[in-house]
Amino acid sequence: MTGADTACRFSYVSDNAAQLLGIAPERLLADCSLFLANVHPEDIAALTARLTGSAPPGALAWIGRYRRQPDGEIWIEMRAGVTAAADGRRRIGGIMQDISQLMRYQEEIEQSRRLLLRLASHREDLVDAEHKKISVEIHDQLGQILTAALFHLRILGRSLPAQDKNAAGLVADIDALLNDAYRSMKDIAASLRPAVLNFGFATAAEWAAERALKNTAIRYRVDVDASLPELDERCATTFFRIVQEALANCVRHAGAANVTIALAARGSDLVLSIADDGRGMDEAESAPGTHLGLTGIRERAMALGGEARIASAPGRGVTVTVVVPNAIAR
Ligand SMILES: Nc1ncnc2c1ncn2[C@@H]1O[C@H](COP(=O)(O)OP(=O)(O)OP(=O)(O)O)[C@@H](O)[C@H]1O
Ligand SMILES: [Mg+2]
Repeated sequence: MTGADTACRFSYVSDNAAQLLGIAPERLLADCSLFLANVHPEDIAALTARLTGSAPPGALAWIGRYRRQPDGEIWIEMRAGVTAAADGRRRIGGIMQDISQLMRYQEEIEQSRRLLLRLASHREDLVDAEHKKISVEIHDQLGQILTAALFHLRILGRSLPAQDKNAAGLVADIDALLNDAYRSMKDIAASLRPAVLNFGFATAAEWAAERALKNTAIRYRVDVDASLPELDERCATTFFRIVQEALANCVRHAGAANVTIALAARGSDLVLSIADDGRGMDEAESAPGTHLGLTGIRERAMALGGEARIASAPGRGVTVTVVVPNAIAR
């Protein structure tokens, strides 16, 4: 095939072209536009740009839809080499093949990926709802029982004969045990569904940082745009979990001195970032699938219809950025 700025023509067409394109080779040789006219309107511009454009000689690759008579649309892949001929035209030599079956498989894979994601996100919602219910129940019911037990124990303690030191010691032990039980009950309830989320995302992020970094020398800053509307429950819980995972990574891997958690609006998008100034990492470490933490962050972001980007270079710290489009109704 040769191509100039505006026109192209076939100089050789193999016999198989008739089967692939549904047009006899001699007709294609006589009129290249018979082929071009059947290329899908959305794909033609990319093809003609490659065939006739001013791109330098080299490899040409194009994939597009083609209306083949009489059986309808197929997907064609064109792979060719482009050389500049002496007359100023471009010589294009290569092959075209029908990749419709491959494209169908790809679409099926894409569909099942989307379905899996929807299922995962649905399951996550159910688990979150269940956690919330259990956490409220643990907190309210167990909390009441423990508070009542402590109250009665203290009455009992006061009514013991002053000389019975043994019994007084036992009462003090049970008092301490009930207090421990109350604290761990609160911890369990909080880990199921952090009640701190009731106080807004900024407080929750602050709480998560305080907890995650308390035994480290890492300083933190929480920078949440105060003019943001309140996040919906699902978004807040997801962001909270992402912050927890990113902070855990800071503690385990970063060797950082500072970490900043920021939440801001960009147009109608919400942008959450967790940035540290630690040792950073290379691409292989953040590659999807190797570990669960970063993969979980990516999946949680996708479940909200957004995406997570992990930016880093060795020595430059790590920034996890989550962008959720159209999360703010204006
Ligand atoms: N903030 C960070 N600074 C430096 N390296 C990091 C940071 N976050 C992640 N990494 C690197 O990326 C790898 C993958 O992190 P990821 O959270 O996915 O897994 P993990 O923390 O090793 O294990 P887990 O599945 O328990 O989270 C880590 O092993 C670490 O090498
Ligand atoms: Mg991790």
